[in-house]
Amino acid sequence: MTKKKKILVTGGAGYIGSHTIIALHETNLYDVVSVDNYSNSSPDTYRRIESISGYTTTAISADLSSLAETEAIFAAHPDIYGVIHFAAFKSVPESVLHPGMYYRNNINSLLNVLSVGEKNGMRNVIFSSSCSVYGNISTLPVNENTAFGKVESPYAFTKIVGENIMRDTIAVSKTLHGISLRYFNPVGAHESGKLGELPNQRPNNLVPVITQTAIGKIKSMQVFGSDYPTRDGTCVRDYIHVCDIAEAHVLALGLLDKPEQPAYDIFNLGTGTGVTVLEAIHAFEKTSGRKLNFELTARRAGDVEAIYSDSSKALNQLGWKTKRNLDEMMSTAWKWELHLAGQNV
Ligand code: NAD
Ligand code: WQD
Repeated sequence: MTKKKKILVTGGAGYIGSHTIIALHETNLYDVVSVDNYSNSSPDTYRRIESISGYTTTAISADLSSLAETEAIFAAHPDIYGVIHFAAFKSVPESVLHPGMYYRNNINSLLNVLSVGEKNGMRNVIFSSSCSVYGNISTLPVNENTAFGKVESPYAFTKIVGENIMRDTIAVSKTLHGISLRYFNPVGAHESGKLGELPNQRPNNLVPVITQTAIGKIKSMQVFGSDYPTRDGTCVRDYIHVCDIAEAHVLALGLLDKPEQPAYDIFNLGTGTGVTVLEAIHAFEKTSGRKLNFELTARRAGDVEAIYSDSSKALNQLGWKTKRNLDEMMSTAWKWELHLAGQNV
């Protein structure tokens, strides 16, 4: 039997990290160590992962923006082969209010992981980037060569800087290999309904707002803007199932070990299909059987009118194709909300 490669998942107790840990275990190729400081999650996630997969996650509590704490992780695990770096703050409006907090956490954590990892023989690194790097863009769909538009928030800027740090560090490294993955709008939950997004504040993102409205945590939801020049007047986004995103990380780890793969690369992760806010709401109503209480209101500052991905590079080079449709995104998100409410435990 070949020895399993050890992968450090940073932010593994969070939304995308936890689904990726399950996908990694399913391959039987990797030993997973998760590190998180639980700033936006809780160690309870590991219990959920175990109840789904039967696997006990090796978990470390540490803050990756601290160099000393990052060094301690690699000292305790000198055989780390690769890192999937999810750990970051991710709220756009919070980043506008507290830019320093976002620059410090998101940039320092990445710098620490790369420098300490490289010193300790880590080979591969995958960085969580975002479609927010494209900013306000009018040519659709966007591909990896689309020039960035005006970026709307410090959060998005940390992703542009993060990608540049990846590119420039790997360019001068003799050992590091990496991929930045630009996620579009990850939504949905594990099909078991036992794992999903657990916002610790009132959510800003559409799908958690929809499910919390349906369950009654939010009385009535707002649709921000109905006068955009789109097919029904509401904004268009590329919603993508979190488990499809998770599976792309497994493929990216495999790709990084192929001799023909360049040392650094970038992939969009979206379905390629734009969905309006009203279409998302109607898909939810159809799959859940619940009528949503919503009103059409003013545009939200900073929203782009429409963005969706050209994902042909991920299809052709990563061999990645999304498997789950909008109905599955909505039905799993709803199953998770019901689970949290104790209604289908
Ligand atoms: P999340 O908040 O659920 O997970 C991030 C995890 O990182 C949390 O568990 C948090 O506690 C941890 N963390 C933050 N700072 C840390 C630090 N200094 N040290 C250790 N742990 C730390 O977010 P998510 O939705 O799972 O996002 C994961 C990554 O994907 C982030 O980098 C995010 O910016 C990026 N991303 C997310 C989306 C999205 O819509 N969810 C879209 C594009 C990109
Ligand atoms: C989607 C659509 C809203 C809430 C954000 C980040 C981006 C990336 C993904 C991390 C928009 C509308 C929403 C509500 C609504 N994250 N909406 N009522 O803004 O596309 O992207 O998450 O990298 O960086 O900016 O996602 O889910 O907030 O909004 O009408 O209560 O839903 O106006 O059109 P967004 P979102």
